Amino acid sequence: MSSVNVSACEKFSINISSIAPDKSISHRSVMFSMLASGTSEITNFLRAEDTLNSLEIVKNLGANVTDDGETIKISSNGIQEPFEILDCGNSGTGMRLFCGLLSSANGHFVLTGDKYLRSRPMKRVTQPLRDIGAIIDGREDSNLAPLSIRGAALKAFDYTSKIASAQVKSCMILAALRADGKCTYTEPELSRDHTERMLKGMGASVEVDGLRTTVGPMKELLKPLKIRVPSDPSSAFFFAVAAAITPNASVVLEGITLNETRIEAFKALERMGADISYELRSDKYEPIGDITVKQAPLKAITVENNISWLIDELPALSIAFACAEGVSVVKNAEELRVKESDRISTVVDGLNACGIETTEYEDGYTVKGGTLKSASVDSDGDHRIAMSFIIAGLRCGMEVTDLECINTSFPNFFELLQKITTIKIS
Ligand code: S3P
Repeated sequence: MSSVNVSACEKFSINISSIAPDKSISHRSVMFSMLASGTSEITNFLRAEDTLNSLEIVKNLGANVTDDGETIKISSNGIQEPFEILDCGNSGTGMRLFCGLLSSANGHFVLTGDKYLRSRPMKRVTQPLRDIGAIIDGREDSNLAPLSIRGAALKAFDYTSKIASAQVKSCMILAALRADGKCTYTEPELSRDHTERMLKGMGASVEVDGLRTTVGPMKELLKPLKIRVPSDPSSAFFFAVAAAITPNASVVLEGITLNETRIEAFKALERMGADISYELRSDKYEPIGDITVKQAPLKAITVENNISWLIDELPALSIAFACAEGVSVVKNAEELRVKESDRISTVVDGLNACGIETTEYEDGYTVKGGTLKSASVDSDGDHRIAMSFIIAGLRCGMEVTDLECINTSFPNFFELLQKITTIKIS
């Protein structure tokens, strides 16, 4: 599967109940099961490369895992020193959270990943962990994987991060659970909060007060998780944009987490003029419900606050910018440069190839709405870039190359896309 040709699409009106399960919650569900006494039960786990790598790692760390294809059951007698190198594949979340989990565990652990992950910055977690006593090393003084961890006793901390990153926050919360006293972690803006919600639900002492999270050390093992993973708003958002840019289209996206730290991109699309409504259906660990998106004329917006709340959706949102009237502006988004690709340049280059005017800045870009033209765009190995430009193809037809990466987060993407347009994969 190296390239796809997508045809432009007529109006559509569909309900989608099988958007891929949430990636962030799936990673956490298998990792956190290692901290529980008894058996955790996870249904609707995301069976995509990134999260299956985390599941494999948990097995290598000695967890007892059974999987009947429906429910994954995990029980653990504590983290065991693994025989294998732990391969996180493409996943920054996997690598950074495992750093926090393993820094205090007995034994020696080596974390690696694919060529993209081995180029992404890890100092943001290895330095604060080293500062509290963790023994971690890696290339460029522990900034680049492979990382080697020798579990050690960790000191209590009061850490203020310069980056609004749920990966860094979660790493430090996991380390705090095994530190020798109460710890506090402060972030500059609230990042996604699944770790806090899930660990609290498991009985951990995790208190959130605005931007400050206080974690008490684990006195005993936690309660096992019983969780059905909701669908992923970041994956759902591709179909939200599809509906927003296709004349007379509408889509109902079912069973999505409505956690406010995750649906900011839908709010941005709403600000652009799309007709969007939310219906809450249940609330355990996370609020879960349906999101309906209907096409309406789009106008340009500026996006500069709470960037971490829509960091994964900015590539797809940029396709909506290209279809809007006026110049949209993205600011304060330097974190985009260290995602699965440098998403400022991959978005800007891709849009330029499609005949859209852009300006690139160190921390963002502008997009002047216009007429998208059919082009050939390479994903640069980044799943969200691949899927964003495939969605752009619904307007004008498109070839997108280097598609394997889509399997990291949304294996049934093409199956769903085929419900609204014709595609040719080769
Ligand atoms: C994630 C956090 C985000 C996001 C990533 C998943 C998580 O990264 O981009 O896809 O599950 O914690 P940062 O927290 O580093 O911004």
